Amino acid sequence: AYDAAPYLPDRGGLTALRRAAADCHGCPLYENATRTVFGSGPASARVVLVGEQPGDQEDRQGEPFVGPAGHMLRKALEEAGLDVAEAYLTNAVKHFKFTSAGPGKRRIHKAPSLREMTACRPWLTAELHVVGPEVVVALGATAGKALFGPSFRVTKDRGALIPLPPPGPGGRGSGAGGSPAGGPTADGFPAGREDTVYGLATIHPSAVLRADDRAAVYAGLVSDLRVAADALR
Ligand code: URA
Ligand code: SF4
Repeated sequence: AYDAAPYLPDRGGLTALRRAAADCHGCPLYENATRTVFGSGPASARVVLVGEQPGDQEDRQGEPFVGPAGHMLRKALEEAGLDVAEAYLTNAVKHFKFTSAGPGKRRIHKAPSLREMTACRPWLTAELHVVGPEVVVALGATAGKALFGPSFRVTKDRGALIPLPPPGPGGRGSGAGGSPAGGPTADGFPAGREDTVYGLATIHPSAVLRADDRAAVYAGLVSDLRVAADALR
């Protein structure tokens, strides 16, 4: 089965994870993409934002949310009162999936499959374990399913703070190990926060770019992000 787990380091922080993820062959998506686009931001971040997968610009530059959707997200975060520099930005899937079309071979984003999302999930789990945020924001359906399970519907449950399952088998810490007592974990990662961690789902910022009623869709994104910002006060 596709699985990133064998590529995860035994111990270390974000730097060790990023370095190991650069060589991940856990699913076939590494074959056509330029590079792994790992998460970015301080390990001390109180909020983690999770997108779907890197896009064309992210694949070229190696950083998440630096293309058009990223600009939209950064603008919305600022308007919601969240400092991007203090947030950790990442994706449910770490490689760009695309089809090439047209004479100029423009690369068109393709949604990752459930198998690819499941394969890549250990990286996100490890990032959440190391960062230990208070709030995790899922941007769009793919991130929502990665965080809350395959039956999650963004349209139904957006904008609400939902407690995430505690670390441990099958929970937030699954894949990277859990720490029931709060000390360093068996896998060598620092223990995450013991307090309740909240998840919140909203639309993907690219939905604003595609919408006819851009102003209204953008306002909805900002209002959801404000709920996350208020939870951090
Ligand atoms: N869309 C995403 O979901 N993530 C990125 O990093 C860029 C665009
Ligand atoms: Fe590994 Fe994820 Fe890339 Fe697949 S998409 S090769 S699991 S980093």
